[in-house]
Parts: sequence; structure tokens; C-alpha cells
Amino acid sequence: MKKTLLITGGIGYIGSHGVVAFETAWYETVIVDNLCNSSIQTLYGMEAILGYRPKFYEGDIRNTELLTQIFESHTFDGVIHFAGLKAVGESCEQPLLYHDNNVKGSLELFKCMQRYQVKKIVFSSSATVYHPGNLIPFTEESRVGGTTNPYGTTKLILEQMLEDLALHAGFQVMNLRYFNPVGAHESGKIWENPQGIPNNLLPYILKVWGGELPQVSVFGDDYDTIDGTGVRDYIDVVDLIAGHVRAYERMDDSRWKFTSYNLGVGRGISVLEMISLVEKVVGKKIPYIITERRRGDIGEVYCSPEKARGELGWKSETSIETSLKNSWNYYVANS
Ligand code: NAD
Ligand code: UD1
Repeated sequence: MKKTLLITGGIGYIGSHGVVAFETAWYETVIVDNLCNSSIQTLYGMEAILGYRPKFYEGDIRNTELLTQIFESHTFDGVIHFAGLKAVGESCEQPLLYHDNNVKGSLELFKCMQRYQVKKIVFSSSATVYHPGNLIPFTEESRVGGTTNPYGTTKLILEQMLEDLALHAGFQVMNLRYFNPVGAHESGKIWENPQGIPNNLLPYILKVWGGELPQVSVFGDDYDTIDGTGVRDYIDVVDLIAGHVRAYERMDDSRWKFTSYNLGVGRGISVLEMISLVEKVVGKKIPYIITERRRGDIGEVYCSPEKARGELGWKSETSIETSLKNSWNYYVANS
């Protein structure tokens, strides 16, 4: 019999790829999402890929009544928890919103899980939990803390809460720390299409390519990196999700309690390298200017993905060129 999973935030960028991957891996998924940062069109995109529409509840994970109704209606084997707000700048302007949505929302979810004896969870954490002073590459043993914004703090609090639940309440937790997700499902039917001006580099570059924005602002060229611009570890979203499926399967063994994994490629790419890679894919020059550093940024971040490779048998396989091509396909088809 198929196992049923609750997918919070399953209409979002990473969550929608998660729904497709888990359905394809023979799980039944049930989505809860309040659409605060996503569009119902993504549900139709998933339907077009899968040939049927996944089960979807529109609503907020802070709504205990709704969660109770969902847990009453399905027998879940576990939860893949993507729901959360993720804009760093906004979190500095509205810290309480971030603590309320991310921490309180997750707390309500964990309480419901406990009440219904659903104890397996995969959690979307972030590279942002690592202390900026660590040497690179970041390993899972690198120091955490010293977060520079409320978004990062909520991820750290939730990691600690989940570790307590694993130690004292019988939860099994796969804590996945994402580096910089890029790319899209090859069908071009689901991706991230942020409204307004994007914060992240790739959506910004594509909007410049499409003429929606005039030029890319490169935030600083005086870092101690290959060309002075910021270096990040860009991981294909489909590969990232494959790591979730592997991690979930590991929890069949109940000795697995709380484990953190870095999900990244283990290689850094600079902003100028990224612009030039996109130019090759789209066959057009991308205009850019060098501006001041962005507040809170650090020069170089990439991970060691060795622990996930060794313990989950997972590694990133998609080239950055393919990821960029898939993102571009989506952008062209949907703009
Ligand atoms: P996203 O905004 O595209 O998806 C998040 C989804 O959660 C959205 O559909 C949103 O509507 C939903 N949501 C938010 N709060 C909710 C609530 N209270 N109740 C119900 N639904 C709610 O973001 P994403 O890029 O897909 O990120 C998924 C997860 O991965 C987030 O937790 C994010 O913090 C984490 N993460 C993302 C990145 C990244 O670069 N995209 C990096 C590290 C970690
Ligand atoms: C940002 C968040 C981080 C979050 C991650 C994934 C900040 C400070 N950090 O990280 O917490 O986990 O996104 O969502 O916002 N860049 C430009 N011009 C742009 C946009 C970005 O030069 O218009 C540069 C940045 O300086 C950085 C690189 O591109 O060097 C990647 O930026 P971005 O996509 O925002 O990701 P992160 O900074 O890694």
C-alpha cells in the first residue's frame, strides 16, 4: 500500500517539485498551503506533469482546526515540511511575522503530529543557520548560530525544537540544510516565479533577460573570491528533492533520530560567472552594473555534501547549464 505524506508548502517552488517527486516515487501526497507566496497555477502545472491533481487543502498551518481536519481525514506516514516565509529583507522589517508564521506555524504542526502519532518529518532548513565566521566548505559539524536576520533565526529555533522532539518525544527528523536552489522541472510547468522584484540572483537575471528589469546589480566586486563577486553553491531543485526522497526512505529504520545534511553541490560559482553562464544559455548579453555590497552578505559560501553522499547515497547530478536551461524554458513559456 502507498504511504501517505503531508506536504506543507507544497504549492511553492521547492514543495511543488517535492510533490511531483514523491508521487512519482509511489507515495500519496496531501498538500496544505495558504498560497501566501505561490499561485494555484502551480497545482495545475503539477496536474499536467502527473496526469492527475494532487490532493490540496488551501489554508494556513497556524490554523489548528484545519490541521485537525486534515489529520482526521488521512492516515499519514510522515510530513515533508516546506511551508515558511523566506525573504531575508522582509524578515528584518517584520520579525514578528516571521516568528509567528515559521515558528508558531511549525509548532502547531508538530503538536498535531504528536497528537496523531505521526513522527517522521523532513524539515527544510537552510545554509543560513551556519555561523558566517566558519571556514568553507561548511560541513554539518561547522558552527551554527550568529544568524544575522530573523528568517535565519526561525530556522535555527526550529532545528533545535525538532532535535528536542527527536530526543524526548520519539520523533524521527531529517534536517536538510539547502544551499542555493536553482532550476526547474524539465517540463517547464513548475518553477519559482516571484511577484515583483526578486531578491535571489537567478530570477533577477532572468527578469533582466526578459526586459522586465533594466540590468543586474552585482552586489560588490571586492570580496576575496575568484573575481571579487559573491560565490554561492547553486543546487538543482530536482536534485535537491531527490535528496528528500532518499532521506525519507532512511527513516524506515527507526534508529534514525535526528540528522542534519547539507544539500549542495560542493562547488562555488561567482555572480559574474553566473551571468556569463546564463548568457551562454540564452544567447544574449545580460547588462549589469557593480554596486555596493548587500548588507548582511558574505563573500563565499559552499558546502561539503560528503555526509549526504556517504549516508544517503545522494549527490547532485544536474549540470548548472541544464538547471539554467530549465529555468529559462519555464520563464519563456510563462512570461
Ligand atoms: P516558497 O515561498 O516558494 O514556498 C513556500 C510555500 O509555503 C508557499 O507556497 C507559501 O504559500 C507556503 N506557506 C508559507 N507560510 C505558510 C503557512 N503559514 N501556512 C501554509 N502555507 C504556507 O519557498 P521555497 O523556495 O519553495 O522554500 C521552501 C522551504 O525551503 C521554506 O521553508 C524555505 O525557508 C526553505 N529554503 C528555501 C531556500 C531557497 O532558496 N528557496 C533556501 C533554503 C531554505
Ligand atoms: C539569500 C539569503 C539566504 C537564503 C538564500 C536562499 C540574504 C542575505 N541571504 O542568500 O538567507 O537562504 O538567499 O533563498 O538575502 N546577488 C547580486 N545581485 C542580485 C542578487 C544577488 O549580486 O540582484 C548576489 C549576492 O550578493 C550573492 C549571490 O548573488 O553573492 C546570491 O544571492 P542570493 O540569490 O540572494 O542568495 P544568497 O545571498 O546566498
